[in-house]
Formats: sequence, structure tokens, C-alpha cells
Amino acid sequence: MNKLACVCVCVCVCVCVHVVKALNNGLALKPIMGWLHWMRFMCNVDCDADPDNCISERLFMQMADVMVKEGWRDAGYEYVCIDDCWSSHHRDASGRLQADPKRFPGGIKKLADYVHSKGLKLGIYSDVGAETCAGYPGSLGYNKKDAQTFADWGVDLLKFDGCNMKWTLLAEGYMNMSKALNATGSRIVYSCEWPLYEWDFQKPNYTAIRETCNQWRNYADVYDSWNSVKSIAEWTALHQDFVVPSAGPGGWNDPDMLVIGNFGLSHDQQESQMALWALMAAPLIMSNDLRTMCQRSKALLQNRRVIDINQDPLGRQGYRTATLGSFEVWERPLSNNFLAIAVRNMQEIGGPQKLPIMKVHGWRMCDSLCNVTQILPQYKELGVQRQQTNLAITVNPSGVALLTIQPILD
Ligand SMILES: *[C@@H]1O[C@H](CO)[C@@H](O)[C@H](O)[C@H]1NC(C)=O
Ligand SMILES: *[C@@H]1O[C@H](CO)[C@@H](O)[C@H](O)[C@H]1NC(C)=O
Ligand SMILES: *[C@@H]1O[C@H](CO)[C@@H](O)[C@H](O)[C@H]1NC(C)=O
Ligand SMILES: *[C@@H]1O[C@H](CO)[C@@H](O)[C@H](O)[C@H]1NC(C)=O
Repeated sequence: MNKLACVCVCVCVCVCVHVVKALNNGLALKPIMGWLHWMRFMCNVDCDADPDNCISERLFMQMADVMVKEGWRDAGYEYVCIDDCWSSHHRDASGRLQADPKRFPGGIKKLADYVHSKGLKLGIYSDVGAETCAGYPGSLGYNKKDAQTFADWGVDLLKFDGCNMKWTLLAEGYMNMSKALNATGSRIVYSCEWPLYEWDFQKPNYTAIRETCNQWRNYADVYDSWNSVKSIAEWTALHQDFVVPSAGPGGWNDPDMLVIGNFGLSHDQQESQMALWALMAAPLIMSNDLRTMCQRSKALLQNRRVIDINQDPLGRQGYRTATLGSFEVWERPLSNNFLAIAVRNMQEIGGPQKLPIMKVHGWRMCDSLCNVTQILPQYKELGVQRQQTNLAITVNPSGVALLTIQPILD
């Protein structure tokens, strides 16, 4: 069913929310949550030199164990995902993909069974082209065989990369794999990179992408750095009129992994990434080492109130509503007439800065009273405020204040 709802935000953007038909596999009705090896562990295949960090079944089993033991699964993180470099360089005698026998001696089916026994789901990786980005076999010419192989193994998600493919064939290749996954009869989340690889040449067709994929990468890989996280947010804001309307239950824009809990971001910057990903209705897919993460990052990633904003059942992606001096304001409409607001202090010098809440565009929904709750950096009930309030929000350099407001009728 096509639903057309138009919401005009007329400070500086006009966003038309045209919720088009999503891929009909019943999955990703909310942004998926999980863990993916790439950003942190990359293509580390040297298990002799680095047995604890190489891409092996042991790594995924350990992550699954920690996800259960340390509250990740209970917080909603469900998918344990393999990225590139898992497979052998050669298909087997019948042309099927096979895991590297040294690093995955039990094979993917056994790993999937293990992950399922923990109440979690397993994700795997392939590529629309003839080879993956790291030079392993890709699925071009093998869509049906590979989809069936993944289904036979009990895999729950496929990340389908876009390296080594003629751009004019991207749409056809991504659609072929979508159909091949559907034809297996197994329900497999389909994570695409189609728009990312198409943007260099033309504007992607997000109607077609949403009909084909459960989530899709638009922009460059995330790195463990503030510049990287900032550039992803900036790209998204600059293209929001184009990409935001395509997000909704069943299909989501994917700004790439959460890098919280690694080395590159200060705690304020980690809070900024978490708040932005919640406002963008982004899949929450961490790439970090769950075995050694500090308590503070863990508490942030497991913050139930932030996760609730990300998982809001209305399923609308937020957007940047204003740049006010050194502040940026992002807003996301939530169910029950709540509005989530992220106030970012973009000034990377000096100390905390204050923004009067009356300057936030969404504040005009508070014609009588609004109940204000701060979620990050600390939870604080700021109480019921009148429209003419002098409440000001304090934000650290490169940090964020994440709030919800709800109008209260007199
Ligand atoms: C395959 O697609 C059909 C038609 O959209 C849909 O009804 C069915 O649920 C899909 N099956 C799977 C396993 O995704
Ligand atoms: C898509 O599938 C069709 C029909 O099987 C095939 O002819 C075509 O080569 C495939 N294209 C790609 C890019 O996989
Ligand atoms: C985009 O894709 C949709 C759905 O597949 C199609 O109906 C539409 O014609 C396409 N738009 C353009 C401009 O190609
Ligand atoms: C305001 O929000 C707080 C926390 O979300 C809640 O406990 C409180 O009951 C709300 N107050 C009103 C008047 O709705």
C-alpha cells in the first residue's frame, strides 16, 4: 500500500514523507541492531600471528557469548554479522561458496546453529560483482546458488557489497539477488550498498531500492574518527530531502557502523554518534571489541532511552532542521506526538555552549505546554515548560544534547 503523507518544515527544509512500498519479506520493521566485524577487525586473516582478532569462527562465537552474557542481546542487539574475508578463495566442486577451512573449520552452518542457540542471528557477506572488495569470490553469475547456500546454512542476513561491478548493472544485480533470496523461501535481511556505488554516476532510484533492500548504504565507510562520523552526518543532511522519505518500516538508510567503544572518538563524540544514529533511524550495527569495551561506552550503546528513540514504531527518519551559529539541530517525529531533538555544538574549541530551547524549530508544537526530558548526556527531567520559557540546553564541544519533548494540553 502506498501512503502519502506530507509534512512541511518551513524554517529551512521541506520534507515530503512519501512512504513507498518496502521489500516484502516481513523483516527490519524497525532498524536492525547487531554487530559487524569490519571496522574493528577488517580483513585480518592471520590467525597464526593474531588468533584473538583474526576473522574466524572463534571471533564470532566469542562475540555471541559476550552479547548474551553482558546484556547486549537483552538491549536489542541481535545480529552477529560477518563481513568480507570469511570465505575460501575458491568455490567448491559444485560451485558453492565455502568458508575458509582453516579459520572456519566447523563451517558456516555450524556457526549459524551456535549463534541461534544463543538466541541471536547470523549475518554473512557477499558482493554483487565477480569479486568482493577484498578479492574473494563474488556472486555475479551465482545469485541463485549463493542465495540457496546461505539459506541452507540458516543465515539470517546478507550484506551485499558493490565492488567490482559495472555501475550500469548495479540495479539489475541487486534486484536479482533480492529475488534469489526471496525464492529460497527463507527470511533473510537484505543489506545493500547499491546507492553508495551509484551516486558517483547518477542519482539512485530510492523507490526501486526500497522495494529491493531492507537497508542500504549511501555514503563512504565509517572510520574510527570524528571527521568520518561528522562527514556521514553532513552528507545525510545535505541529501535529506532525497533520502529521508525512503526510510520507513521494512527499509532504512544505513549510515554504516557505530564505532563507539574503539579508539577514535571522545566520549562526547561517541554520544553524538549514538544520538545522530538514533535520529536517523539507522540500523544500530556496532563494530568494536565487545570483549574489552569500557563501561562508559557500553552504557551508552545499551542506553535504553536512546535505543527506544531509534526503534520508535512510527519509523520516520529525522533530519537537520537548523544551523544556528555553532549549533546544529536535528529533529525526529516519534509516536504519541513526541519529538526527539538533538542539539549539537559544532564548535571544537572553548567550553560548553547554551542554546535557548525556544530556538528549536519543533518547539512551536508547544503552544500551551511541553514536557521536556533530556536523555543525553545525562538523563534529566526538565519538567513541563511554557512556550515562553528561558530553558537553555548546554552542549559540550563536538557533543550533543538529546531530548524529547511532548506537548501537554492545558
Ligand atoms: C517473497 O515475495 C513475495 C511477494 O512480494 C512475498 O509475499 C513473500 O513473503 C516473500 N517471501 C520471502 C521469504 O521473503
Ligand atoms: C540477472 O538475472 C537475469 C536472469 O536470470 C540474467 O540474465 C542477468 O544476467 C542477471 N544480471 C546480473 C547483473 O546478475
Ligand atoms: C524508479 O523505480 C520505480 C520502481 O521500480 C519505477 O516505477 C520508476 O519508474 C523508477 N523511476 C525512474 C525515474 O526510473
Ligand atoms: C514528563 O516526562 C517525565 C519523564 O518522561 C514523566 O515522568 C512525567 O510524568 C511527565 N509529566 C507529564 C506532566 O506528562
